[in-house]
Amino acid sequence: MIMDSFFSKALISWYQEHQRFLPWRCTSDPYAIWISEIILQQTRVAQGLDYYNRFMARFPDVETLAQASEDEVLLYWQGLGYYSRARNLHFAAHQIVEQGGFPKTYEGVRALKGVGDYTAAAISSIAFGLPYAVVDGNVYRVLSRVFGVDIPIDSTQGKKYFAQLAQELIDVDAPGLYNQSIMDFGALQCVPKSPNCDTCPLQDRCVAHAQHKLDALPVKSHKTKVTHRYFHYLNVRIGDEMLLHQRKADDIWKNLYEVPLVEADHRMSVDELTQTTLFRQLACNQIQLVKEQVKHVLSHRVIFADLYILSASQWPSPLPAGYFKLKVSDLGHYAISRLMDIILQEK
Ligand code: ADE
Ligand code: SF4
Repeated sequence: MIMDSFFSKALISWYQEHQRFLPWRCTSDPYAIWISEIILQQTRVAQGLDYYNRFMARFPDVETLAQASEDEVLLYWQGLGYYSRARNLHFAAHQIVEQGGFPKTYEGVRALKGVGDYTAAAISSIAFGLPYAVVDGNVYRVLSRVFGVDIPIDSTQGKKYFAQLAQELIDVDAPGLYNQSIMDFGALQCVPKSPNCDTCPLQDRCVAHAQHKLDALPVKSHKTKVTHRYFHYLNVRIGDEMLLHQRKADDIWKNLYEVPLVEADHRMSVDELTQTTLFRQLACNQIQLVKEQVKHVLSHRVIFADLYILSASQWPSPLPAGYFKLKVSDLGHYAISRLMDIILQEK
């Protein structure tokens, strides 16, 4: 299947000229590399950099992270999305401390909560020089184009095929270097739209380029279905106080905070909203729509959010289950989603 070591050599020499200089590339500390890889699971390097630096300044080692509260870890994660990453990171910090240190084998790294095949391969190759190839969207794209592979990347067969191909291509003498080379090559050179073929060192050997199949590769069999959700936030304000609750369900934004929420499978009218149990429990006498249909796109859902401001002369007693009062000025102590942040901003 393979040509020779041309592929890995070309990628590595491309990398030596074009690599991004990133803080986690100047360390061999597996903890730092782990943190960077978790941040980069669903976040672009440009957005992740500041978060990484702030996170490492506050939690410089695994003991500090394990001792922190989950709420504080979520606060440092606020705005990055995919918050299960932060919860798992915090959980895994305890796993590591209990084991007496960072695991040094692929299997040990893979057993940490929140670490999948990609992240385990990245950490064990970069931190320990172990020969495990990373496979992600960038790698699918580069391999499918260079080798002209049209097996769908989201099929079982495709996943197996690309994983095997990636593993055959890795430079076993420099696995961490090779893996980071293909990551940067996919992020900077062989990009999804209009890849930079004119300056590409692989151009002469690239099937997609030779056969004009840039837009046809990689192949995806089916798109993930997008669901729509309708959120109606009821921000109750009495004086300088408001209500929050912590999202507890196994759903988006688990353990983040938000103002009272009514969710439905359609957009509710004010009349409908005032019939809901939560609205009645809040016992408010005024309701005003202040933001409408704020659209928030997540990986396979779209949320449409309306924000209402409710007012009353006094707090209901008891408060609806799970809700608590706080000073508006203390909101910054609670980790909230990006949507909540957007929606609560004045105008
Ligand atoms: N994406 C995931 N891991 C990465 C890394 N180590 N460098 C650059 N991009 C990445
Ligand atoms: Fe990607 Fe173009 Fe290079 Fe082929 S020639 S690897 S499509 S950038």
